[in-house]
Amino acid sequence: MYMNLISIKDLNKQQIKEVYELVPKYKLKDTTTELKNKYIGLIFEKPSTRTRVSFEVGIHQLGGIPIELDEKQLQLSRGETIKDTANIFNHYLDGLILRVHKHTTLLEFSKYSKIPIVNALSDEEHPCQVISDIWTVLEIKKVKLDELNKIKFVYVGDFNNVCRSLVYISEILDINSYFIIPKKYQPKAKFKENIIITDEIEKIKDADVIYTDVWVSMGQEKERKKRIKVFKPYQVNSKLISLAKPDCIVMHCLPANRGLEITDEVIDGKNSVVIKQAENRLYVQKALMVYIFKNK
Ligand code: CP
Ligand code: NVA
Repeated sequence: MYMNLISIKDLNKQQIKEVYELVPKYKLKDTTTELKNKYIGLIFEKPSTRTRVSFEVGIHQLGGIPIELDEKQLQLSRGETIKDTANIFNHYLDGLILRVHKHTTLLEFSKYSKIPIVNALSDEEHPCQVISDIWTVLEIKKVKLDELNKIKFVYVGDFNNVCRSLVYISEILDINSYFIIPKKYQPKAKFKENIIITDEIEKIKDADVIYTDVWVSMGQEKERKKRIKVFKPYQVNSKLISLAKPDCIVMHCLPANRGLEITDEVIDGKNSVVIKQAENRLYVQKALMVYIFKNK
């Protein structure tokens, strides 16, 4: 039996631990053979720099063969069904990594696929991002997986795909997480008690980790003006981070809208770990691919 990674909830704590145990091995650039003779399809319906390149390089480094499928060149773009496409891919590919406009596209693929489906970002979630980001927290804060409850994790901004996956991984790994979000944009759903949803910016006090993401995600461009106005008080700037612990780390999945959700001073400042965070995507995703694709 194989597994999909469509939501971060597809992994439990033990499985995340097993992926993390593999990561140190995959920090090496040397080519290995775990994905030898494996053909991994990549479909990106939206732009991507980090996810696309880290997956493609990662597949090469693991000895696999990445097949970039330009969605405009697939018959999907002319109306062929996902069902027919998935049924064909089952015979050609060993795994499929997709960045999609609609989360339902992933669910539809998974319904007909006999190969693992990996979510490389949808409107709902970004599981590969957050599994990597928590690894970065462990690495930089030098804490063990079971000690994550000692960390005060604070997200500031929009309840978007990255944020939703951060909520879920905080639930899975028992991280005490605060999500500071303007009232109007807060989720209606109820979460475990280690998840605090608030609009009080002061909750950033004593944070060990501050995380932010764009106010206008891909596909929301029409709401740009309105969103910038509402989110303005939620900017991660020097004044805001002065309320957190002096050794707090500042994270952003990137790409950033400098001057909006985060200032140049902070993203380029001493607390920022955004480049390391992006670097780690490669290593964690290599571990993740070995975990998901190796024995499929
Ligand atoms: N963080 C992230 O997923 O970046 P890309 O959109 O460049 O892949
Ligand atoms: N929330 C952002 C993340 C980009 C990696 C978006 O969906 O555009």
